[in-house]
Amino acid sequence: MKRACVIGWPIEHSRSPMIHGYWLDKYAIKGSYDKVAVRPEDLESFLSSLADHGFVGCNVTVPHKEQAFQLAGHREPSSLAVGAANTIWLEDGKTCAANTDTYGFMTHLEASAPDWNTGTKPVAILGAGGAARAICYGFIQAGVTDIVVLNRTASRAGELADDLGQNVRAGNWEERTSAPQWASVIVNTTTLGMKGEGDLKVDFTNADPACVVADIVYVPLETRLLSGARQNGLRTVDGLGMLLHQAVPGFEKWFGVRPQVTDELRGLILADLGQS
Ligand code: ATR
Repeated sequence: MKRACVIGWPIEHSRSPMIHGYWLDKYAIKGSYDKVAVRPEDLESFLSSLADHGFVGCNVTVPHKEQAFQLAGHREPSSLAVGAANTIWLEDGKTCAANTDTYGFMTHLEASAPDWNTGTKPVAILGAGGAARAICYGFIQAGVTDIVVLNRTASRAGELADDLGQNVRAGNWEERTSAPQWASVIVNTTTLGMKGEGDLKVDFTNADPACVVADIVYVPLETRLLSGARQNGLRTVDGLGMLLHQAVPGFEKWFGVRPQVTDELRGLILADLGQS
Protein backbone atom coordinates (compact mmCIF):
# COMPACT_ATOMS: atom_id res chain seq x y z
CA MET A 1 0.00 0.00 0.00
CA LYS A 2 1.35 3.42 -0.96
CA ARG A 3 1.11 6.19 1.61
CA ALA A 4 1.30 9.96 1.09
CA CYS A 5 0.46 12.86 3.38
CA VAL A 6 0.30 16.62 3.80
CA ILE A 7 2.62 18.21 6.31
CA GLY A 8 2.26 21.58 7.98
CA TRP A 9 2.22 23.27 11.37
CA PRO A 10 -0.63 23.46 12.20
CA ILE A 11 -2.34 21.13 9.70
CA GLU A 12 -5.99 20.78 10.81
CA HIS A 13 -7.53 22.92 8.08
CA SER A 14 -5.97 21.28 5.03
CA ARG A 15 -8.47 20.14 2.38
CA SER A 16 -5.87 17.91 0.68
CA PRO A 17 -6.89 14.67 2.47
CA MET A 18 -10.42 15.07 1.13
CA ILE A 19 -9.21 15.63 -2.44
CA HIS A 20 -6.72 12.74 -2.48
CA GLY A 21 -9.07 10.49 -0.50
CA TYR A 22 -11.75 11.03 -3.17
CA TRP A 23 -9.32 10.00 -5.92
CA LEU A 24 -8.02 6.97 -4.01
CA ASP A 25 -11.63 5.74 -3.73
CA LYS A 26 -12.56 6.66 -7.30
CA TYR A 27 -9.63 4.79 -8.83
CA ALA A 28 -9.81 1.95 -6.26
CA ILE A 29 -6.14 2.43 -5.34
CA LYS A 30 -4.81 0.72 -2.26
CA GLY A 31 -3.26 3.75 -0.67
CA SER A 32 -3.67 6.36 2.01
CA TYR A 33 -3.28 10.10 2.39
CA ASP A 34 -3.01 11.55 5.89
CA LYS A 35 -2.39 14.82 7.69
CA VAL A 36 0.87 14.92 9.62
CA ALA A 37 1.73 17.80 11.93
CA VAL A 38 5.46 18.49 11.62
CA ARG A 39 7.15 21.16 13.71
CA PRO A 40 9.50 23.47 11.78
CA GLU A 41 12.49 22.15 13.73
CA ASP A 42 11.57 18.58 12.72
CA LEU A 43 11.10 19.22 8.99
CA GLU A 44 14.60 18.22 7.90
CA SER A 45 14.56 14.90 9.73
CA PHE A 46 11.02 14.17 8.55
CA LEU A 47 11.84 14.76 4.88
CA SER A 48 15.11 12.85 5.01
CA SER A 49 13.31 9.83 6.44
CA LEU A 50 10.10 9.93 4.35
CA ALA A 51 10.61 6.37 3.11
CA ASP A 52 11.40 5.14 6.63
CA HIS A 53 8.06 6.58 7.70
CA GLY A 54 6.48 4.55 4.87
CA PHE A 55 5.66 7.53 2.64
CA VAL A 56 6.14 7.81 -1.14
CA GLY A 57 5.83 11.59 -0.91
CA CYS A 58 3.91 14.48 0.58
CA ASN A 59 2.31 17.84 0.07
CA VAL A 60 3.85 20.71 1.97
CA THR A 61 1.91 23.61 3.38
CA VAL A 62 2.50 26.63 5.61
CA PRO A 63 5.06 27.24 7.08
CA HIS A 64 7.29 24.62 5.40
CA LYS A 65 7.15 25.49 1.69
CA GLU A 66 10.41 27.48 1.48
CA GLN A 67 12.40 25.19 3.76
CA ALA A 68 11.20 22.05 1.96
CA PHE A 69 12.38 23.62 -1.30
CA GLN A 70 15.79 24.37 0.24
CA LEU A 71 16.16 20.84 1.59
CA ALA A 72 15.21 18.99 -1.62
CA GLY A 73 17.81 16.96 -3.50
CA HIS A 74 16.23 17.79 -6.87
CA ARG A 75 14.18 20.89 -7.67
CA GLU A 76 11.81 21.14 -10.63
CA PRO A 77 11.79 24.44 -12.59
CA SER A 78 8.33 25.21 -11.14
CA SER A 79 9.76 25.31 -7.61
CA LEU A 80 12.90 27.18 -8.68
CA ALA A 81 10.74 29.98 -10.10
CA VAL A 82 8.83 30.37 -6.87
CA GLY A 83 11.53 29.47 -4.33
CA ALA A 84 9.05 27.21 -2.58
CA ALA A 85 7.72 23.67 -2.92
CA ASN A 86 4.29 22.21 -2.25
CA THR A 87 4.84 18.70 -3.61
CA ILE A 88 7.57 16.20 -2.69
CA TRP A 89 8.24 12.70 -4.01
CA LEU A 90 11.10 10.24 -3.96
CA GLU A 91 13.08 9.29 -7.05
CA ASP A 92 16.35 7.37 -7.18
CA GLY A 93 16.73 7.89 -3.45
CA LYS A 94 16.40 11.67 -3.83
CA THR A 95 13.76 13.99 -2.42
CA CYS A 96 12.32 15.84 -5.43
CA ALA A 97 10.41 19.13 -5.13
CA ALA A 98 7.86 20.84 -7.35
CA ASN A 99 5.49 23.74 -7.03
CA THR A 100 2.19 22.75 -8.62
CA ASP A 101 0.36 26.05 -8.01
CA THR A 102 1.45 27.25 -11.46
CA TYR A 103 -0.05 24.16 -13.10
CA GLY A 104 -3.17 24.41 -10.92
CA PHE A 105 -3.86 28.04 -11.73
CA MET A 106 -3.12 27.88 -15.46
CA THR A 107 -5.11 24.67 -15.99
CA HIS A 108 -8.17 26.16 -14.33
CA LEU A 109 -7.77 29.45 -16.24
CA GLU A 110 -7.56 27.56 -19.56
CA ALA A 111 -10.65 25.54 -18.65
CA SER A 112 -12.71 28.53 -17.45
CA ALA A 113 -11.72 31.12 -20.06
CA PRO A 114 -9.90 29.37 -22.95
CA ASP A 115 -9.48 32.57 -24.97
CA TRP A 116 -7.98 34.61 -22.10
CA ASN A 117 -4.77 35.31 -24.03
CA THR A 118 -5.61 38.25 -26.25
CA GLY A 119 -1.93 39.11 -26.53
CA THR A 120 -2.64 42.81 -26.66
CA LYS A 121 -2.96 44.07 -23.10
CA PRO A 122 -0.92 43.39 -19.94
CA VAL A 123 -1.80 40.78 -17.34
CA ALA A 124 -2.24 42.35 -13.88
CA ILE A 125 -1.25 40.39 -10.77
CA LEU A 126 -2.39 41.80 -7.43
CA GLY A 127 -0.04 40.74 -4.62
CA ALA A 128 3.60 39.67 -4.50
CA GLY A 129 3.76 36.57 -2.26
CA GLY A 130 4.46 32.96 -3.20
CA ALA A 131 1.19 32.52 -5.06
CA ALA A 132 1.86 35.63 -7.14
CA ARG A 133 5.28 34.22 -8.10
CA ALA A 134 3.79 30.88 -9.14
CA ILE A 135 1.13 32.58 -11.26
CA CYS A 136 3.55 35.05 -12.89
CA TYR A 137 5.70 32.08 -13.86
CA GLY A 138 2.64 30.45 -15.45
CA PHE A 139 1.92 33.50 -17.58
CA ILE A 140 5.59 33.74 -18.62
CA GLN A 141 5.47 30.11 -19.70
CA ALA A 142 2.26 30.81 -21.61
CA GLY A 143 4.16 33.46 -23.59
CA VAL A 144 2.80 36.64 -21.99
CA THR A 145 5.39 39.38 -22.38
CA ASP A 146 3.85 42.12 -20.23
CA ILE A 147 2.95 41.13 -16.67
CA VAL A 148 2.39 43.93 -14.16
CA VAL A 149 2.65 43.16 -10.44
CA LEU A 150 0.79 45.53 -8.12
CA ASN A 151 1.38 45.17 -4.41
CA ARG A 152 0.63 47.20 -1.30
CA THR A 153 4.31 46.97 -0.34
CA ALA A 154 5.97 48.21 -3.52
CA SER A 155 9.42 46.79 -2.71
CA ARG A 156 8.07 43.21 -2.79
CA ALA A 157 6.58 43.79 -6.25
CA GLY A 158 9.98 45.12 -7.36
CA GLU A 159 11.79 42.06 -6.00
CA LEU A 160 9.38 39.72 -7.73
CA ALA A 161 9.84 41.54 -11.05
CA ASP A 162 13.64 41.47 -10.67
CA ASP A 163 13.59 37.74 -9.91
CA LEU A 164 11.26 36.69 -12.72
CA GLY A 165 12.83 38.65 -15.55
CA GLN A 166 12.09 41.08 -18.33
CA ASN A 167 8.45 40.12 -18.94
CA VAL A 168 7.45 41.14 -15.42
CA ARG A 169 7.39 44.71 -14.14
CA ALA A 170 6.24 46.34 -10.93
CA GLY A 171 3.38 48.81 -11.08
CA ASN A 172 1.79 51.10 -8.55
CA TRP A 173 -0.74 49.55 -6.12
CA GLU A 174 -3.21 52.35 -6.96
CA GLU A 175 -3.32 51.21 -10.59
CA ARG A 176 -5.41 48.20 -9.53
CA THR A 177 -8.58 50.29 -9.37
CA SER A 178 -8.59 50.88 -13.14
CA ALA A 179 -7.15 47.44 -14.10
CA PRO A 180 -10.38 46.27 -15.83
CA GLN A 181 -9.76 49.02 -18.39
CA TRP A 182 -6.12 48.26 -19.15
CA ALA A 183 -5.55 44.57 -18.35
CA SER A 184 -6.47 41.43 -20.31
CA VAL A 185 -6.47 39.29 -17.14
CA ILE A 186 -6.58 40.41 -13.49
CA VAL A 187 -5.55 37.91 -10.80
CA ASN A 188 -5.98 38.59 -7.11
CA THR A 189 -3.37 36.67 -5.10
CA THR A 190 -3.71 38.79 -1.95
CA THR A 191 -5.70 37.71 1.07
CA LEU A 192 -8.09 40.64 0.59
CA GLY A 193 -11.62 39.33 0.17
CA MET A 194 -11.00 36.17 2.16
CA LYS A 195 -14.04 35.33 4.29
CA GLY A 196 -15.62 38.47 2.87
CA GLU A 197 -13.10 40.74 4.62
CA GLY A 198 -11.47 43.69 2.91
CA ASP A 199 -12.10 45.20 -0.48
CA LEU A 200 -9.65 45.55 -3.34
CA LYS A 201 -11.59 48.59 -4.60
CA VAL A 202 -11.34 47.57 -8.24
CA ASP A 203 -13.61 49.75 -10.37
CA PHE A 204 -15.43 47.96 -13.18
CA THR A 205 -16.84 51.11 -14.79
CA ASN A 206 -15.78 51.20 -18.46
CA ALA A 207 -14.21 47.73 -18.16
CA ASP A 208 -12.93 46.10 -21.34
CA PRO A 209 -15.54 43.37 -21.98
CA ALA A 210 -12.73 40.95 -22.91
CA CYS A 211 -11.07 41.26 -19.49
CA VAL A 212 -10.97 38.03 -17.44
CA VAL A 213 -10.96 38.32 -13.63
CA ALA A 214 -9.53 35.59 -11.40
CA ASP A 215 -9.26 35.27 -7.65
CA ILE A 216 -7.28 32.62 -5.77
CA VAL A 217 -9.40 33.19 -2.65
CA TYR A 218 -12.08 30.44 -2.53
CA VAL A 219 -13.93 31.29 0.69
CA PRO A 220 -16.30 32.76 -0.32
CA LEU A 221 -16.31 31.12 -3.74
CA GLU A 222 -17.55 34.35 -5.25
CA THR A 223 -15.44 37.08 -3.71
CA ARG A 224 -16.43 40.73 -3.87
CA LEU A 225 -13.95 41.11 -6.76
CA LEU A 226 -15.53 38.27 -8.75
CA SER A 227 -19.04 39.45 -8.00
CA GLY A 228 -18.20 42.95 -9.24
CA ALA A 229 -16.68 41.50 -12.41
CA ARG A 230 -19.66 39.21 -13.08
CA GLN A 231 -22.20 41.97 -12.50
CA ASN A 232 -20.39 44.01 -15.13
CA GLY A 233 -20.47 41.17 -17.65
CA LEU A 234 -16.85 40.01 -17.32
CA ARG A 235 -15.76 36.38 -17.23
CA THR A 236 -14.61 35.16 -13.84
CA VAL A 237 -12.31 32.37 -12.63
CA ASP A 238 -12.75 31.19 -9.04
CA GLY A 239 -10.06 30.05 -6.62
CA LEU A 240 -11.36 26.54 -5.99
CA GLY A 241 -10.25 25.23 -9.38
CA MET A 242 -6.63 26.08 -8.60
CA LEU A 243 -6.84 24.21 -5.29
CA LEU A 244 -8.21 21.12 -7.03
CA HIS A 245 -5.94 21.13 -10.07
CA GLN A 246 -2.75 21.77 -8.09
CA ALA A 247 -3.31 18.37 -6.45
CA VAL A 248 -3.22 16.44 -9.76
CA PRO A 249 0.56 16.19 -10.39
CA GLY A 250 1.32 14.99 -6.85
CA PHE A 251 -1.32 12.26 -6.95
CA GLU A 252 0.06 11.04 -10.28
CA LYS A 253 3.65 10.97 -8.96
CA TRP A 254 2.71 9.03 -5.82
CA PHE A 255 -0.01 6.68 -7.03
CA GLY A 256 0.67 6.36 -10.78
CA VAL A 257 -2.75 7.53 -12.03
CA ARG A 258 -3.47 10.97 -13.45
CA PRO A 259 -6.70 11.90 -11.67
CA GLN A 260 -9.60 13.95 -13.03
CA VAL A 261 -10.97 17.06 -11.39
CA THR A 262 -14.68 16.26 -11.55
CA ASP A 263 -17.83 18.22 -10.70
CA GLU A 264 -18.44 15.63 -8.01
CA LEU A 265 -15.09 16.43 -6.34
CA ARG A 266 -15.78 20.14 -6.60
CA GLY A 267 -19.17 19.63 -4.98
CA LEU A 268 -17.63 17.63 -2.16
CA ILE A 269 -15.14 20.34 -1.30
CA LEU A 270 -17.72 23.10 -1.66
CA ALA A 271 -20.00 21.29 0.78
CA ASP A 272 -17.13 20.91 3.23
CA LEU A 273 -16.41 24.63 2.93
CA GLY A 274 -20.08 25.35 3.60
CA GLN A 275 -20.35 26.97 0.15
CA SER A 276 -22.83 24.72 -1.63
P1 ATR B 1 1.32 33.79 -0.26
O1 ATR B 1 2.77 33.40 -0.18
O2 ATR B 1 0.39 32.72 0.23
O3 ATR B 1 0.93 34.29 -1.61
P2 ATR B 1 1.92 36.11 1.39
O4 ATR B 1 3.37 36.04 1.10
O5 ATR B 1 1.51 36.19 2.83
O6 ATR B 1 1.09 34.92 0.81
O7 ATR B 1 1.33 37.33 0.59
C1 ATR B 1 0.10 37.86 0.87
C2 ATR B 1 -0.18 38.99 -0.11
O8 ATR B 1 -1.39 39.63 0.31
C3 ATR B 1 0.90 40.06 -0.15
O9 ATR B 1 1.01 40.54 -1.46
C4 ATR B 1 0.32 41.11 0.80
O10 ATR B 1 0.80 42.44 0.56
P3 ATR B 1 2.12 42.97 1.30
O11 ATR B 1 3.29 42.40 0.57
O12 ATR B 1 2.01 44.46 1.18
O13 ATR B 1 2.02 42.49 2.73
C5 ATR B 1 -1.14 41.02 0.45
N1 ATR B 1 -2.01 41.59 1.49
C6 ATR B 1 -2.33 41.03 2.67
N2 ATR B 1 -3.17 41.83 3.37
C7 ATR B 1 -3.36 42.94 2.59
C8 ATR B 1 -4.12 44.14 2.73
N3 ATR B 1 -4.84 44.38 3.84
N4 ATR B 1 -4.07 45.04 1.74
C9 ATR B 1 -3.34 44.82 0.62
N5 ATR B 1 -2.60 43.70 0.43
C10 ATR B 1 -2.62 42.78 1.39
